[in-house]
Amino acid sequence: MEVLRGFSEPNMATSTRIQNVAPRPGFSALHRLRKRRKGQRVKDPLDDLLLKTLTSQRAMEERFLQMEERRFQRDLDVEERRMQLEQRRFELEREHEFRMFNVFAQMLSILKQSHSGSSSSVAMPRGLDFSQALSEITGMGGGGGGDLQEMRARPLSERRVDMHGFCSPSDFQRSPYLSARGNIASIFRGSTEEGYKAYHADKYDEDKNPNGIINFGTSENKLCFDLMSKRLTQTDMNLMEPPLLQYPDWTGHMFLREEVARFLTYYCKAPAPLKAENVIVLNGCGSLFSALATVLCDPGEAVLIATPFYGGITQSVFLYGNVKLVYAYLDSKITGTSTRPFQLTVEKLEKALQNARAEGVTVRALILLNPQNPLGDIYSLSELRDYLEFAKRHELHVIVDEIYMLSVFDDSATFHSVLGMDRLPDPQRTHVMWGITKDFAVSGIRFGTLYTENQDVANAVASLCYFHGVCGPVQHKVAQLLRDRDWINQVYLRANRARLKAAHTYVTDELKTLGVPFLNRNAGFFVWIDFRKYLKTGTFEEEMLLWKRFLDNKVLLSCGKAFECSEPGWFRIIFADKTHRLQLGMQRIRKVLEEREQEILAEEKEQPCQSEQDGKADSTDEVIFVSRHQEPTSASSSNLGDLIGLLQQQMRSSDWLQKNTAEQFAQEKPEIYDVFSKLVGKQ
Ligand SMILES: Cc1ncc(COP(=O)(O)O)c(C=O)c1O
Repeated sequence: MEVLRGFSEPNMATSTRIQNVAPRPGFSALHRLRKRRKGQRVKDPLDDLLLKTLTSQRAMEERFLQMEERRFQRDLDVEERRMQLEQRRFELEREHEFRMFNVFAQMLSILKQSHSGSSSSVAMPRGLDFSQALSEITGMGGGGGGDLQEMRARPLSERRVDMHGFCSPSDFQRSPYLSARGNIASIFRGSTEEGYKAYHADKYDEDKNPNGIINFGTSENKLCFDLMSKRLTQTDMNLMEPPLLQYPDWTGHMFLREEVARFLTYYCKAPAPLKAENVIVLNGCGSLFSALATVLCDPGEAVLIATPFYGGITQSVFLYGNVKLVYAYLDSKITGTSTRPFQLTVEKLEKALQNARAEGVTVRALILLNPQNPLGDIYSLSELRDYLEFAKRHELHVIVDEIYMLSVFDDSATFHSVLGMDRLPDPQRTHVMWGITKDFAVSGIRFGTLYTENQDVANAVASLCYFHGVCGPVQHKVAQLLRDRDWINQVYLRANRARLKAAHTYVTDELKTLGVPFLNRNAGFFVWIDFRKYLKTGTFEEEMLLWKRFLDNKVLLSCGKAFECSEPGWFRIIFADKTHRLQLGMQRIRKVLEEREQEILAEEKEQPCQSEQDGKADSTDEVIFVSRHQEPTSASSSNLGDLIGLLQQQMRSSDWLQKNTAEQFAQEKPEIYDVFSKLVGKQ
């Protein structure tokens, strides 16, 4: 072989060069010998032998040359074939790029059309009508105010969404520096973060800024900084090995994914060990919503969610993925199959899905928040099963957000993770998220995790993880934290639950004293409060005014519109805060409410019949509501508190006090007066 290769070396370039090969020494000797024999005609046996040798050598050489030529021809064919394949691959790549370009161009034109509000390319006279653009792009559900029935009757595409109602998008000027999408992103930030920005500019500080804003609006746990900072600064947390300082697997280091799998297996009570390869970690559940929406839906498609819901989801699913939300409206009335206010039922999900489909909207997934933010509801196993079965029937993915799963602070309440279910109706379409932000009181550490058995979904999300990675040293810390089961169970969770419960009790007792109805739940950091009686008219504009009034009085709350609540007048208070801030915040709230009450009374005196005509919400029903749906297991002392709140509320919101003076009552029914006055603490 070596000989052959050496022999063919000079002829590698082309087969034609073979013809130009210089005659070899053996070849010319044969030629000379033939000439000599022609001249001498003497038969010499040695000559004969030489002639035969040279002839056969020549035949061999010719044979070699033929073989060589054939080999070159073969090589040439292979080379030509390779070039053709290369060319074809190149063409396919171009075609693919062209197709992708078309898809992007279509996406852009859809986005542009949505902005301009028409399919024509006529320029808008005053820049973009953002309000309209938003209603068309994101406008699947919430009403900008007014009557809910009327709003629901309108087609989804006509409904307007004022991005949490904080600011009207039309207040925004279109920036010439931004794309249409950039302008919308800018509106999101402007509208959702007005209060947040105000808070950061004027934060309350006991010593340095006692007149600053108290933040009851952001869902953070501020009760456990002491425990967390102590644990996170222990020596086992400080590791700086080379792998932590290098690019990681984008889905997270294996040591962390294994730890997450063990952690979730334990706390979600999974029937079998969860697998590390089904775990992805990234920088928070907000990013996870964004990634999941992008990989499960195409632009313009939708995800079903019950309102009220944590409003950040709107932004998460829309900003990158251009995915819309379709709302299943829950409200405070107990009707049909629901047994508690704002109860999620399959009936409501079905209705919302059918409405969306009737309008040509493709719904790909259902989002479930459990425990629910802002309601604090925890779903029972049978409820969970019903929702998952509903999703399976309609081939919807289910994104289950369990970010508050360890923040259940009353033993009477039991949280069920879908990962703990014996059998998932549709495991390939069930995706569960959790993070440390809430349950470990560290919203500054961006960490969220996805558990999905669907490897296609996992792979697609993994691609996006490149943009949402968690840095190596933090991955190490989180793994150490999740591994420390003793500390979590014996120290952290015990203290956290006790503190959450105490803070919740403080705020709800205050509300009872104020006679304000609320949902009494045992999970999360929030109380869902009914301030409807403080609205002069039952509109979102009034709700907005009340929200601003609180902010002017240096207390930041979240109003119902921020959660796309269908009834104006509901607010969310975050109670997971230190006592001195809770006290001051509640004091400021009380002041606003008392002022409002006086104003409303004064106006009603001036126009006695007006309030009914205005459609002002009568919260009397809901006081009974809230009281009635109290957990039967709750302590009798809290029922007594509710009763007092209920009585106070009913007295204030009716003309009972005018009609029934205390003296008159005491004379008529002295025994009842005695009990009653003890109850309301007026003796
Ligand atoms: C229900 C719910 N899911 C997700 C998030 C966002 O979580 P993260 O801080 O991990 O982005 C929040 C934050 O308030 C939330 O309330």
